[in-house]
Amino acid sequence: MFLRCDETPQWPLLSAHFDAAGRSLDLRQAFAGDARRFEHFSQAAPQVFADLSKNLWDRQAEALLLDMARSCGLERRRDAMFAGQSVNCTEGRAALHTLLRRPAGLALPGDLPFMAPALAQVHATLDALLAYADAVRADDGITDVVNIGIGGSDLGPHMAVQALDAWRAPGKRFHFVSNIDGHELHGVLRGLRPERTLFLVASKNFTTIETMTNARSALAWFTDQGGRDVARHFTALTVNVEAARTLGMTRTFGFWDWVGGRYSLWSAIGLPLAIAIGSEGFRSLLAGAHAMDEHFRTAALEQNLPVRLALLDIWYRNFHGFNSRCLAPYHAGLQRLPAYLQQLEMESNGKRVDLAGRVLPMATSPVLWGEPGSNGQHAFFQMLHQGRDVLPLEIVAVHRCAHPFHGHHGMLLANALAQSQALMLGRSGDDAHRHCPGNRPSTFVLLEALTPASLGALISLQEHRVFASGSLWGINSFDQWGVELGKVLAHDLLQRLATGDVAGLDASTAGLLQRLR
Ligand code: F6P
Repeated sequence: MFLRCDETPQWPLLSAHFDAAGRSLDLRQAFAGDARRFEHFSQAAPQVFADLSKNLWDRQAEALLLDMARSCGLERRRDAMFAGQSVNCTEGRAALHTLLRRPAGLALPGDLPFMAPALAQVHATLDALLAYADAVRADDGITDVVNIGIGGSDLGPHMAVQALDAWRAPGKRFHFVSNIDGHELHGVLRGLRPERTLFLVASKNFTTIETMTNARSALAWFTDQGGRDVARHFTALTVNVEAARTLGMTRTFGFWDWVGGRYSLWSAIGLPLAIAIGSEGFRSLLAGAHAMDEHFRTAALEQNLPVRLALLDIWYRNFHGFNSRCLAPYHAGLQRLPAYLQQLEMESNGKRVDLAGRVLPMATSPVLWGEPGSNGQHAFFQMLHQGRDVLPLEIVAVHRCAHPFHGHHGMLLANALAQSQALMLGRSGDDAHRHCPGNRPSTFVLLEALTPASLGALISLQEHRVFASGSLWGINSFDQWGVELGKVLAHDLLQRLATGDVAGLDASTAGLLQRLR
């Protein structure tokens, strides 16, 4: 039996502390009053250093939050996930993305009988996948790789291929088609030659309407353009191998129902990335993620970076009432990190009932949004500095760059630092328009360099943070029932668009449908 955060004895104490000292906390005074605030609130973890000191909390709030996490049984929940228990209770499944990056031969956490065969299958599939990835990488006949997938079957590989561009195989271009909007597929296919192209059709279920429609259109284009040998030019990444075969895709790489879509980068869904960075790079990504898994699994809660971030998330969402988190990666390669983390956070924790189906009395997932710095500074950062709302910022910066323009990199880092400083310090003066109130929170996440290993660790960190906050809210972070309703209605409306039947529709939908015919 687990307690939800609001059911713990610490919850009213946190409320009282927030009223007494949390709401009015001033960061400038907090630093003046605590010479070791930076040391206390910064945390090293594998490949990642994070400074949480410029946030609107103090040691007492953190201590209460840690006690609250213990009362919720966070450690037992974490152990249950790693041990392969059915933590995704609404779908009756384990959530074992951590097994995908677990080295072969390492003792398993827990003793469920299916775990050892599952790990053996993971490594057999991984070896085959990476051998194929290296073969494609070495195949000069293939110049273009097109990934067709959506959601978790697109966002992870798309983000990571861009992030690790410095490792990309020379002579290979990567394209991602996710949207049902034919403009996207058309735009990609326009520049391609069938005999030079490899399509990867990525779909856990192989039923997703966007992916199936794009895959069929790509197949039609391939044959129309004189392409031959579908088996060589189309590879399927799916749990549903049979469905792939019916489309003529005989080369398939599988994974398992215990891999959630948004946690699937580490599985066969990672193939575009494996082709881009090679087997060595991909294994290094897995190793970085595994190192963070071990940190999350074994570090004491007070020194556990995913846990500390999750506690801050609870404090902000449920006490300060902040409803969003802005993410600014200060690295152009991490351009799609906000989109990736949006799915991770909001599809996982955008929930309104707890594990027992009870309506929650408190808010859950924040809105996650953002753009790379320094671009964002010249767009929406104005509101972070002077708007009426407090919008916590999370900066992801990279110490060493992989380009020769070192002067640029110094300026980029100075900008990242300046933003977190300016948000905190503000600027006083007589002119109301120039006045910046300061005391605006930010977290600074720092990687030494952007490498496969550090990217793996960064993503794993965020996965565990989302799991930890979801556990404290008492929700199932591994299902996504809300997404299903729109799919059902779209199916109905597609038929109505063809027939013009508006019977039983609300007036707005009926009016729009008539205009769209
Ligand atoms: O629409 C939501 C979703 O189910 C995501 O969770 C998932 O990542 C995506 O669709 C794609 O699903 P699939 O890989 O089965 O095509």
